[in-house]
Amino acid sequence: MKIIKSTKELQSIRRSISTKVGFVPTMGALHEGHISLIKEAKKQNDIVFVSIFINPKQFSINEDFSSYPIKKEADIKICALAKVDYLFMPEISSIYSQNEVLIKSPNQSYILEGFSRPDHFNGVLQVVLKLFGLIQARNSYFGKKDAQQLFLIQKMVKNFFINTQIIACETLRQNDGLAISSRNTYLLPQEKKEASLISKSLYCASRIISKNEFDVNIIKNEMLNILKNLNVEYIEFVNKNFQKITKVELKNTIILIVVKFKTVRLLDNIWV
Ligand code: PAJ
Repeated sequence: MKIIKSTKELQSIRRSISTKVGFVPTMGALHEGHISLIKEAKKQNDIVFVSIFINPKQFSINEDFSSYPIKKEADIKICALAKVDYLFMPEISSIYSQNEVLIKSPNQSYILEGFSRPDHFNGVLQVVLKLFGLIQARNSYFGKKDAQQLFLIQKMVKNFFINTQIIACETLRQNDGLAISSRNTYLLPQEKKEASLISKSLYCASRIISKNEFDVNIIKNEMLNILKNLNVEYIEFVNKNFQKITKVELKNTIILIVVKFKTVRLLDNIWV
């Protein structure tokens, strides 16, 4: 595996590759969820690029940019073991400059995850567009866990005619159903137990829907019943165009949930 730090070197290496390239963008602190994306990319491409870049533009002022976990050595080992071909780890200064052309997110960026941090998705799209330009992958891999991010990236690729195919990967979970996230390590033992209720509430919703109950309020109340002792920030039902709905549309609905614990905010979703 080759580690690349400079954008110039990356572009020069990229020009020398004519086989099928797969790309997995990340912010590091790699876990099983990221590895599942890398494995998928390895299966479907000849050469796999992974990027690790903690993107300052997607954190708002009171968010955890400065305390976001950095695990360079462990990440390099994980990528080498997963047989990544190129690991791109740029400095902030090589990605961003002063007074740049900006990308502005569509309306769907200002609900849910973008509601209390209106610049978040602008920052995500800005960096992902840059990475797409640099790596020019045939296939790019994103997790369904970040459903709104996935939707916006798919929309950007479509709107800007970017020549990469977005592959949506399933959420990897622990045995108890908890979606794997680097933030899970901050949970206290008691909170870990409680966190498994998040996926339980989503599976419960899916069961209710399979019995032909499509009323969002009824389903939401059943979910809240399971989560009654937890601090639920939101449960929302959207269609695949990320518009809020009041009746479930089969095969076209995503149920999104965020639960807040003392030190972490956990998000999860299910596609029904
Ligand atoms: P990061 O949070 O590091 O996540 C990188 C990718 O891993 C995302 O596509 C995310 O959806 C996926 N992922 C995270 N947990 C997962 C799980 N349990 N199962 C499957 N996939 C999972 O998302 C970002 O970084 C950034 O916003 C980025 C796209 C890199 C832009 O900065």
